[in-house]
Amino acid sequence: MKILVIGSGGREHAIITALSKSKRLTEIHAAPGNGGIAELATCHDVKATDIPGMVKLAQEINADWVFVAPDDPLVLGMVDSLNENGFATFGPRKNAAILEGSKHFSKDFMKRHAIPTADYESFTDSATANAYIKAKDSYPCVIKCDGLALGKGVIIAEDETAAFTAVKDILDGGKFGGAGGRIVIEEYLEGVEVTVLAFTDGKTVVPFPASTDHKRALDGDKGLNTGGMGVVAPVPYYTAEIADECMEKIFLPTIKGMAEEGRAFKGCIYFGLMISPTFPDKCSAKVIEYNCRFGDPETQALLPLLETDLLDIIESVWEEKLDTLDINFSNLKSACVVMASGGYPEKYSTGFTISGIEATANPQDGVHVFHAGTRIQNSELVTAGGRVLNVVGIGETLENALEKAYSAVKSITFEGAHYRTDIGKKAIT
Ligand code: AMP
Ligand code: GLY
Repeated sequence: MKILVIGSGGREHAIITALSKSKRLTEIHAAPGNGGIAELATCHDVKATDIPGMVKLAQEINADWVFVAPDDPLVLGMVDSLNENGFATFGPRKNAAILEGSKHFSKDFMKRHAIPTADYESFTDSATANAYIKAKDSYPCVIKCDGLALGKGVIIAEDETAAFTAVKDILDGGKFGGAGGRIVIEEYLEGVEVTVLAFTDGKTVVPFPASTDHKRALDGDKGLNTGGMGVVAPVPYYTAEIADECMEKIFLPTIKGMAEEGRAFKGCIYFGLMISPTFPDKCSAKVIEYNCRFGDPETQALLPLLETDLLDIIESVWEEKLDTLDINFSNLKSACVVMASGGYPEKYSTGFTISGIEATANPQDGVHVFHAGTRIQNSELVTAGGRVLNVVGIGETLENALEKAYSAVKSITFEGAHYRTDIGKKAIT
């Protein structure tokens, strides 16, 4: 089996690490890849969003499978083009990736299928949006760009002035370009956030253990929103009862609804959930967002817990036979701490030497170091992005997993390195 993985972050490094364990794998390629991925795969300098370039590369290397990991190429329809050119793929086609590509679509979809989510309306015109905000008169309220906006298109407005400003910036000021041509305004939900990733072939849903990301840059959930600064899994407050409720009211209706609408979703679906026992109608979980892909950094914490061959899984998803495969996860706990460049998510410098990884990473002992933003420069590993490394600890308890991750983090150095010191605190107290 010859496989090409699209992407260049810690998520892709974790995916490639998991695929590399498969006995059936003969060759692995990545585009564009990074400094860590280059140790396992042949990296090709093709941009993740370059659809014709990627089809050409798949033809050149004669790939058996193409695994499309990031949101942009999925939403742009890379899977469709690869399929039309005869390649087997992992990832949803464009008409299913819209679940992440358009919040307006996903909110209307949930309404059509009675899937629990925050109340909302969509707008393209600021005067009508402002009239809705005034009539609701309930704060905070949440204002979201319809399209992909690098995780920055969600504004939690604390009062009317902030809400009007957000509407004006997005709809009239074009702050997020085409992604903000339409907005969704929705009710603010109180609770704890949980991510559930699941494999699906369009019929069967197989969830991973629940995880929780830490989106803010600084300890105590302070500072700016980031792509994610750390993850723990599983989370104790995602109980077996809540898991059953989510399967019945959210996961299966989503997959069934998409199939009924001629948008069968095949790949990994990301359910961003708000959990609160105080929601009305005895409903404990509501959907905050769908993503059409593996989460980053959730994947880095979760894939080391997967005991089943990932290649077998992607094959059964492609062949729509997921119900015939036994998928097992270890009972161990996982913690991922993100080491970022000083200044991230705002301005930061790159090109700093990274040291200490080799002496620290020890997968046999439950310490994994995935590269998120690194490159090789003059035979040396240097920083090349905002999020640089994802350090994962696997242990018998969450405390033990966190100890392993933080002990490894302390042994790795690069100039300006920043990480949160409170990952998982809420899950263990
Ligand atoms: P999204 O891109 O839709 O996941 O939104 C980004 C973040 O904004 C989420 O991870 C939540 O922390 C927050 N958020 C989004 N929607 C809501 C909501 N309706 N109520 C409370 N927080 C929200
Ligand atoms: N960790 C958030 C995301 O992947 O969108």
